[in-house]
Amino acid sequence: MAILKIARMGHPILARKADPVEDLANPDVARLVADMIDTLEDAGGVGLAAPQVHTSLRVVIFHIPPTRAGHDDGVVSLTVLINPQIMPLSEETAFDFEGCLSIPQLTGRVPRWSRIRYKALDLKGNTIDREASGFHARVVQHECDHLDGILYPMRMTDLVDFGFVEEIALRKQDDA
Ligand code: NI
Repeated sequence: MAILKIARMGHPILARKADPVEDLANPDVARLVADMIDTLEDAGGVGLAAPQVHTSLRVVIFHIPPTRAGHDDGVVSLTVLINPQIMPLSEETAFDFEGCLSIPQLTGRVPRWSRIRYKALDLKGNTIDREASGFHARVVQHECDHLDGILYPMRMTDLVDFGFVEEIALRKQDDA
């Protein structure tokens, strides 16, 4: 178990399309996931993708803690997604602010599908097949984008809504 170094925006590993996990029985995969869990816990985010810790494999972990669970989407315990696939369940999109451990101190307002279905394998090879909405759907889309070399600013439609967390928080206070 180890806390891994997190790649920051501009590092080429974040721009690469990650490779599928071919062999779940390879102990390197379980070790990677254990280290990602340690790293996420240390960094304090809700999700982490393997490319962010310099491993170009299609592995994502995330959780939705009680403090982040919305009215239309609940708490999700720590989930490991291996080779995930996302399908939108409607054309509807929603905008909200996101952050990323690879883009420290910054936040931006990003459109995402409002409702998705996602499928993946867990570490034991069991199929995960879930529907998600709200913050849950947003987190899964954000993390899975990392597997295709996409960071959230690349999804933004108005860079006026991209800035330092402290400045955006002040702006939100003014709006209230
Ligand atoms: Ni991220």
